[in-house]
Amino acid sequence: MTGRLRLGVNIDHVATIRNARGGDHPDPVRAAHIAAEAGADGITAHLREDRRHITDNDIDRLMAEIDLPLNLEMAATEEMLEIALRHRPHAACIVPEKREERTTEGGLDAAGQHNHLAYYVDKLGAANIRVSLFIEPTEQQVAAAVRLGAPVVEFHTGRYAHVEGEERTAELKRIADYAALAAKNGIEPHAGHGLTFDNVIPVAAIPQLAELNIGHFLIGEAIFTGLDASVRRMRKLMDEAR
Ligand code: PXP
Repeated sequence: MTGRLRLGVNIDHVATIRNARGGDHPDPVRAAHIAAEAGADGITAHLREDRRHITDNDIDRLMAEIDLPLNLEMAATEEMLEIALRHRPHAACIVPEKREERTTEGGLDAAGQHNHLAYYVDKLGAANIRVSLFIEPTEQQVAAAVRLGAPVVEFHTGRYAHVEGEERTAELKRIADYAALAAKNGIEPHAGHGLTFDNVIPVAAIPQLAELNIGHFLIGEAIFTGLDASVRRMRKLMDEAR
């Protein structure tokens, strides 16, 4: 697959700043509108168990007020399943979640948690929600996603973003190889985590990837240039990489 690479803008950290003071400014739904105008293809939001950034009310409003497809990142829990089934977002990306982590630190163990995840993949899929599994780029995890019948996987690019030199080249190759393997098995591969203007191009050039989900950097950059400019520049870099 080549063609346009979709950009999902993750607005979690607009809510992080809002929640630092309480109240309702800055509003993540306003950020979603600006991202849409600037060329985002979707909005991504992670409703964490501890509601540290996105809240239930944000999800209500994103579903009601935003025309772009919503990708709801969620832990595989009964509470989150109930919320997803109530809202029926376009997509649900199942992520591992630990209360003490600062961000989603690694991919799901789709191989080790087959029975637990199968229940969520089936329930979400039956409600016509496009299920994605956030996994590390390994053969074992892609094989597990195939066994689970997930239509989408999102490769965790955190390691790629944090290492340098030969290690980064090797990590990029793993993402490319397992994106190709996923696509060969009928799974649509996405990628995300830690992507920036400086490191996005080689990832965006991987032809099988259909979507990148990017948040923290875009929101941080928006402090200096505005969200519109930050999303537009990312969109341009992604388009140029194709
Ligand atoms: N994709 C998934 C599944 C994530 O959990 C996150 C972080 O919330 C992202 C993408 C975006 O990562 P970042 O905020 O580092 O761009």
